[in-house]
Amino acid sequence: MSYLLALDQGTTSSRAIVFDHHGQPVARAQQELALHYPHPGWVETDARALWQAQLAVARAAMHGLAPQSIKAIGMTNQRETTVLWERDGGAPLANAIVWQDRRTAAICERLREAGHAELITSRTGLVIDPYFSATKLAWLLDHVPDGRARAARGELCFGTVDSYLLFMLTGGRLHVTDPSNAARTMLFNIHTCAWDDELLALFDIAPQLLPEVVPSSGVCGYTDAALFGAPIAIAGIAGDQQAATFGQACHHPGMAKNTYGTGCFMLQNTGAEARASQHRLLTTVGWQAGGQTTYLLEASVFMGGATVQWLRDSLGIIGHSGEVEALAASVPDTGGVLMVPAFTGLGAPYWDAGARATLLGMTRATGRGQIARAALESIALQSADLMHAMELDAGTPLHELRVDGGASANDLLMQFQADVLGVPVLRPRVTETTALGAAYLAGLGCGVWSGLDEIGAHWKLDRAFEPRRSDDWRGATLARWRRAVALTRSWQE
Ligand code: G3P
Repeated sequence: MSYLLALDQGTTSSRAIVFDHHGQPVARAQQELALHYPHPGWVETDARALWQAQLAVARAAMHGLAPQSIKAIGMTNQRETTVLWERDGGAPLANAIVWQDRRTAAICERLREAGHAELITSRTGLVIDPYFSATKLAWLLDHVPDGRARAARGELCFGTVDSYLLFMLTGGRLHVTDPSNAARTMLFNIHTCAWDDELLALFDIAPQLLPEVVPSSGVCGYTDAALFGAPIAIAGIAGDQQAATFGQACHHPGMAKNTYGTGCFMLQNTGAEARASQHRLLTTVGWQAGGQTTYLLEASVFMGGATVQWLRDSLGIIGHSGEVEALAASVPDTGGVLMVPAFTGLGAPYWDAGARATLLGMTRATGRGQIARAALESIALQSADLMHAMELDAGTPLHELRVDGGASANDLLMQFQADVLGVPVLRPRVTETTALGAAYLAGLGCGVWSGLDEIGAHWKLDRAFEPRRSDDWRGATLARWRRAVALTRSWQE
């Protein structure tokens, strides 16, 4: 029997899952990771800790399996998070700046004022926002001693989390990324699938810093033999949302999925066409496999499952994330309470770094149950905005939505999601679709599966949530939500 090992480096956890050739998970390991918030709006992570945790979970998931039985590794990761490290030895020069970090909002404002928005969007498919790596990298280069000069001398490496982990997995021999991760840096031309010289000049980024871009599927190197007892092929790389789209078997144009991770990420396959959005969504590379590039439209918001973490860590009204469903179900409704979870600004389709979270409509009857329920509903309401913008861009309505990620296990949330969308929400049996997508890309890249049809046949339904509310209810609920969103806009000027 041979297996595929998926390494999934999320924002708040490191996961490793071993899949068999039916796409079934057979072993897994996970470690939670701390984030650091040194100033309001800043979010950092220790890249070295990511590496140590990733190595530990990979070894734990492989426990009892010979390294030779692992046919290949697929890497998937939180995207945009920016790491700068020493080419010699791999020591990070600073904490990695996490995708949620807003410290470069002023730099983004200056770029907009200077009229660069059109150039950036037309080349990268992105909107100017601190979310993406370019301004984070520029900030790091300006703040580490001698940053730009050392970069020009080739002493430093930049990469998203995939690049850093692959560098460490290969003992520093491989400095690579794939187009799905490169597409999130704001330095990559998604049409030519190459780093863009004009954008590099705009951000004053020395090309020596950049990883080589390799296909998302195909053997690109081998792990250092000392790590697992024998070298293992690395045959898949993709950003986590693109990997989840692949793992959900959304292989054909028009198919879409929503992942409830730290944020919420809705992506729709647009095939070989990089479709420009008219509604402030992102155009991004899905994956590059078999010599073909597949593009996606993406609508992302920053606070999905992280809203539940806020209930747990900041408010303390639950002790464990899994408790939120029972607490929310302990009340029949929110009693008129509405949350807009703009804790780190608003993502698509608003892109407002200055928006801040709010809880509206509280009365003396408001308690933990209502707040928990409002928090869950806010996750689904944001996703309704995303789907609406996506349908406007596509020009056709979505007929169903595939869902995955931790919070998709929450039946109350999924039912409310179907109610506010007005379309069935389909939850597959394997909801670890991010890791599964990485395993699929790796397996395709080393010949475990013949092609997309074979992979697509693995997708099995766990449960379909059918909408139960009327169009009138939906219209009124969304109108109230949008009124609340408007109140949060540009709160932090
Ligand atoms: O764009 C950020 C995204 O890749 C983070 O994913 O799974 O950590 O919520 P996750």
